[in-house]
Amino acid sequence: MSVQGKEFGRTADGRTVTVYRITNKNGAYVDVLDYGCTLQSICVPNRDGTLTDVCLGYDTVTEYEENDGYLGAFVGRHANRIGKGEFVLNGQAYSLAVNNGPNHLHGGLKGFDKVIWSACVASDRLIFSHTSPDGDEGYPANLMMSVTYCFDDSNTLTLIYDAVSDGDTVVNFTNHCYFNLNGQGTGTATDHLLQVNADAFTENDGDCLPTGKILSVEGTPFDFRTSKPIGRDIGADDENLKNGSGYDHNFVLQGEGLREVAVLSSEKTGIVMTTRTTQPGVQVYTANFLTYRGGKNGTRYSVRDGVCLETQHFPDALHHENFPSVVLKQGEEYHQITQYAFTVKEENEV
Ligand code: GLA
Repeated sequence: MSVQGKEFGRTADGRTVTVYRITNKNGAYVDVLDYGCTLQSICVPNRDGTLTDVCLGYDTVTEYEENDGYLGAFVGRHANRIGKGEFVLNGQAYSLAVNNGPNHLHGGLKGFDKVIWSACVASDRLIFSHTSPDGDEGYPANLMMSVTYCFDDSNTLTLIYDAVSDGDTVVNFTNHCYFNLNGQGTGTATDHLLQVNADAFTENDGDCLPTGKILSVEGTPFDFRTSKPIGRDIGADDENLKNGSGYDHNFVLQGEGLREVAVLSSEKTGIVMTTRTTQPGVQVYTANFLTYRGGKNGTRYSVRDGVCLETQHFPDALHHENFPSVVLKQGEEYHQITQYAFTVKEENEV
């Protein structure tokens, strides 16, 4: 594995953004920006051996700065929604920006996706670090973080998140990569097959905020225990699907520790992406709000042109005691791993 950095562009206020290419011995590679620790490209072989870019992104810093959607970004301090942007921790009330209807989303107005991180290249990994100051976007305590990327010779991309704080705070990190295993910019991803090891999902209200209820997937469009095309039930007459304008839901993952949680695949290219994580949930998001826009290399993106598998703690966990806690105590070590492993299958192979 080798890592090479070069200038990607400049922010509106003149700061340099660097792109790091992590190449493995097969010539497959991942491009990552220090702006938001953003996964800008993931180029892996299809069943013919041709490198295929399976990650949506932009060619310029300006597009990353100006567009919504969090393409490929590292998200924090708290991924997804916090109801009304309010929470109480140790008896003290905190108020965060409300940037998504009545709720707080993905860390606020300037989340970690909009920060230029310090990069350090070690022999087999790329490590970004950043300290978020006490009061940053309204969150308490100084938070010292690192985000590590590895891309090994088996075409497995590993994301490692570490954090420690000097006071009690909340932490829920994710990556917001939009995958299209047919190749980025080739249109809809609803033909992809998806399998998720989840017997249950968290019910949402009309603003995509969990109600606190954990529902069984049995007999619902959310049953991905056996692989099925993402688009098969996406238009079903189902209140939860309507609330998200498609899939935009947290699935309650089986098991604990680093385990396989989901398999996404394309019949067209044969590319299979196996997701493993230490996290308790995954937000399956079918790019329902990805409005028409330009993408990399002159491509165009629109609604449903990618699928995000955002491994995470459950959204709005601060308001639901039945959800795993997102509180990070002073001095405690936060550590989460997610892997996206790329392989290929032959035509009609199950
Ligand atoms: C998450 C949310 C979505 C949307 C996207 C970004 O997946 O759950 O509702 O905000 O991020 O557009």
